[in-house]
Amino acid sequence: MLIRGDLTPAVNSFPEDVRQGLGKMGQKELPSKYLYDDVGSALFEVITKLPEYGLTRAEERILRGHSEAIAERLASHGMVVELGSGSGRKTRRILEALARRQPTTYSPIEISPAALESCERELDDLAHVSIVGFETEYLDGLRRAVARRKPGEAVLVLFLGSSIGNFDREAGEDFLRKIRQELEPGDALLLGMDLEKPLAQLISAYDDSLGVTAVFNKNLLARINRELGGNFDLARFEHVALPNARERRIEMHLRSLENQTVSIEGADFRTTFRRDETIWTESCHKYGPREAGEMAERTGFGCVAQYLDDEWAFAENLLLAVGASRAGGNGKAA
Ligand code: AVI
Repeated sequence: MLIRGDLTPAVNSFPEDVRQGLGKMGQKELPSKYLYDDVGSALFEVITKLPEYGLTRAEERILRGHSEAIAERLASHGMVVELGSGSGRKTRRILEALARRQPTTYSPIEISPAALESCERELDDLAHVSIVGFETEYLDGLRRAVARRKPGEAVLVLFLGSSIGNFDREAGEDFLRKIRQELEPGDALLLGMDLEKPLAQLISAYDDSLGVTAVFNKNLLARINRELGGNFDLARFEHVALPNARERRIEMHLRSLENQTVSIEGADFRTTFRRDETIWTESCHKYGPREAGEMAERTGFGCVAQYLDDEWAFAENLLLAVGASRAGGNGKAA
């Protein structure tokens, strides 16, 4: 089953966000969520297969090895809500383990209908799992899914793949707090986090030798051309992955190779680029192994288990909601 949220505001804000981001006086920027249209989502799937990008395989190994142990700890969690459905490949293991113990409802939340459909197709054959997908923004979807929980049923939220790292650190914590506000004590959050690693390894993960990440990044300009009538000449921009040591992140930028002017008819906007000026398109923050526990404590969770991969520094963190229930008042500690 698929339930559609009201996506109108998100769709309509594209021209406004482009105008605002490219109209900035200092660093020009574009919100990273616009990287993930159907073309961008397909390119990201390819990135996850690249030898240089070990993140997804690390998480798959962790879930293959530890889904049983995770399900063991989550006896009454019959509802699974995934923020960003991805391909559904990683989720299969955890759903199988939970559904062996009790009938399970799985609610993937996605703004891309294509991603939602392919995830539903991928997981359609799972026994004792019913799928109720939500085509909407993460928090709206979480709210709608949780409203359907049965009495006594606990919720497991999946936020995998280190998507938390695409938020600024403060915004990431704020997002965890907002997730917590939708939950009850004892509900769980499985949070994937990519950990700090040597710089050379990070740079090649975000600037791969085949150039797939470069195409993924440039697709944002192509998307502006397609959807908003822009006239970006893609050959006049190059992808760069810039390390920011102070913020412990890799930043993806698109660098203008010459002085140039670009018009975007559908956004009623025109701007100039100096040679070497960049558009900042995405941040990929990396974490220390203890950071998940610290963030959990500041946002209304407790970290009860952490699973690490041996080959690629990545952590899957199991958090439990603690403190007051949503309704306030009589909340019991988890
Ligand atoms: C989706 N997200 C976790 C990816 C990352 O590694 O931050 C996005 C990505 N951008 C370039 N390569 C991968």
